[in-house]
Amino acid sequence: MNRLTIYADGNGPTINRHIYGHFAEHLGRCFYDGIWVGEGPAIPNTRGIRDDIVAALRRLNIPNLRWPGGCFADDYHWRDGIGPRAGRSGRVNTHWGNVVETNHFGTHEFMDLCDQLGCEPYICGNVGSGTVQEMRDWLEYMTFAGDSTLANERRQNGHDDPWPLTYWGVGNENWGCGGNMRAEFYADVYRRYATYCRHFDGGTLYRIAGGSYGTNYHWTDVLMREAASYMEGLSLHHYSIIEWSNKGSATDFDESGWFTVLKKALCMDTVIGQHSAIMDRYDPERRVGLIVDEWGTWHDAEPGTDPAFLYQQNTLRDALVAALTLHIFHNHCERVHMANIAQTVNVLQAMVLTQGQQMILTPTYHVFEMFKGHQDATRLPILLDTADYVVGDAAIPQISASASRNAAGEMLVTLCNTSPNRAAELICNLYGTDAVTVAGRALTAESMNTRNTFESPEAIQPKPFEQFSMGDGRLTIELPAMSVVALTLT
Ligand code: AHR
Repeated sequence: MNRLTIYADGNGPTINRHIYGHFAEHLGRCFYDGIWVGEGPAIPNTRGIRDDIVAALRRLNIPNLRWPGGCFADDYHWRDGIGPRAGRSGRVNTHWGNVVETNHFGTHEFMDLCDQLGCEPYICGNVGSGTVQEMRDWLEYMTFAGDSTLANERRQNGHDDPWPLTYWGVGNENWGCGGNMRAEFYADVYRRYATYCRHFDGGTLYRIAGGSYGTNYHWTDVLMREAASYMEGLSLHHYSIIEWSNKGSATDFDESGWFTVLKKALCMDTVIGQHSAIMDRYDPERRVGLIVDEWGTWHDAEPGTDPAFLYQQNTLRDALVAALTLHIFHNHCERVHMANIAQTVNVLQAMVLTQGQQMILTPTYHVFEMFKGHQDATRLPILLDTADYVVGDAAIPQISASASRNAAGEMLVTLCNTSPNRAAELICNLYGTDAVTVAGRALTAESMNTRNTFESPEAIQPKPFEQFSMGDGRLTIELPAMSVVALTLT
């Protein structure tokens, strides 16, 4: 029997809203032919930024947006992206298909985007091919309120006041596309760059060191040993990929493909656990945040699209990956202070896909919307006994669960059933609450690969869910096969 016990009056840690962050890189159609459509009349926009995308992301209460990369960040020179657009340099985007980057979307446009979204900017600076001075000058340009040459240049370019800026990345994947450095070397490089990374208006900059990928624990060990006192956060990247050399289709998969991707997603728990254990040795107070600033599914690009553009469809399987991973972040939220799913629009595990004037919401978008009540809520202690979902000689838990209580006292319980074949009865005992009202929504579909398309944009979306009964402090829930369920208890 599956049992969930929730201690509704328990006082756990806060689930930092920044765990629900996003990542948008100058890659494929994320910006150009995505977020940025220019100021023409073809697609409704505000100062060149597409209105329907902003409206959709605002509904998620998006807390922060990481930009401009990714690998692109260590080949990006901020001066290329300021001043009148007509005069901006065209540069080859060496990482993503050698297309010419017009730099029409630069610092001012990004800050405008964050303003329209109501989110905080998280900018990743260039260590791999940039200089300490270039990074330091960008910070002065953006954050200084006084009468300096750089602050006045910002004013000439149309922005009088400094922008609010807290989150700052010091390079990206510096063991790879960000300079192919060894951990020992990058630790010293990091210390040097971080010395000059400051908020020029007296604010506090949250400096995030370029971190490890997956199970590269040596990187975390060295960075924490040599540089922890110069950082506020340390990054970590982990994607759910079947195999780098054979990732598989985003839409055309069997049960083995379903199972393997979910199992890979669940590895996030071990990966975070191991990196956290290393960090605990150097930082038992957990001052330094583990910032999982790239995560999500990575499938083969859609047939007929440029493989360098990483455009992939998004099915119910991706929704399950999102829900399982967010639960893992909740469970580690004492150390995981921020996370950023890759990437917001038209790239990898996107929230929305666009085609000309059309925009569709992905199943992953719906999970972020269903889970948004967890942002800044108190994580509640739970105990879960679940059956396994077994394929061949491998197994993963059939049910995943997380519960939180917000400032108004409302509880949000989110649940996943990973089995594509079996519904699951879940007996949920509630202690420390006299909640009487339960409102439910479920995301599920007829088949594992159900997705929204431009022809059928609402094939999968959350529906009201009523397969539960409440009595004697106990909730009995019938979880549909392959589903994500959100219950609000008041
Ligand atoms: O998200 C795509 C790429 O994956 C990023 O540019 C890089 O940081 C990572 O390897």
